[in-house]
Amino acid sequence: MKKPKIVVANWKMHLNVHEASLLLHKMDKRIHDHRSVEVVIAPSYLYLQPLSLEVDKRKFKLASQDGYYVDEGSYTGAVSFSQLRNLVQYSIIGHSERRRYFNEGLEVVRDKMAAAIRNNITPILCVGETSEERHLKETKQVIHDQITTALSDLTSEDVERLVIGYEPVWAIGGHEPAKPADIEEAVSWIRYQIRELYGKDVAEGVRVIYGGSDEPEFVEGIMQVDGVDGLLVGHASLNAEQFADIVQGVYLSSLK
Ligand code: PGA
Repeated sequence: MKKPKIVVANWKMHLNVHEASLLLHKMDKRIHDHRSVEVVIAPSYLYLQPLSLEVDKRKFKLASQDGYYVDEGSYTGAVSFSQLRNLVQYSIIGHSERRRYFNEGLEVVRDKMAAAIRNNITPILCVGETSEERHLKETKQVIHDQITTALSDLTSEDVERLVIGYEPVWAIGGHEPAKPADIEEAVSWIRYQIRELYGKDVAEGVRVIYGGSDEPEFVEGIMQVDGVDGLLVGHASLNAEQFADIVQGVYLSSLK
């Protein structure tokens, strides 16, 4: 059975609790419930609990932006996947901002993947090259290393559930996404890695999405790229109109 497309709103470290609630409310008014598109909101940890009480669960799922790989213990300031269990359905793992500003290496990402899965949370694994790596033509190597390490403790059933976001670091936070040809190459490389490790069925079952300057005008072009199953949206998800337009664009693409 074909899985629905997926659009993830990554609110990052933006909004206060009132603004977050208001934004969700505005989105709720503008976004329709489509079976062929899953809409996932990833607010700050702080707002997961209050938003979970307000959210229309048929229309929106919740995600955390991270999680700690140990389930319980003396880790001041950390939030574990076991604490997030039953509160979120998804967790973003290995976002480039985590890798860069919080020094998360490949092994930490691998352990977070396993921790999310054992707590019944579906990882949205982010991979992608920096602009320096791109200029050095290391994109494929970087994606290979990120994928193979992140998945190394997972079974094929675990992997089939995953969402993998191709997020070229150089395209994040701007107004111009990667070109469709670049997206297509990276997405098919991601699926190739999975096919090599887990076989064709798993590679086809994984949803691969694109993130990096997703704005409404680009949705149609990106969603036409072979193998793209949705979008991971940063700044445009802080604007209810723009985000609703993006969801609508993904819905229209799902009809084709
Ligand atoms: P952006 O962020 O849409 O603002 O480029 C995407 C992301 O970092 O997930």
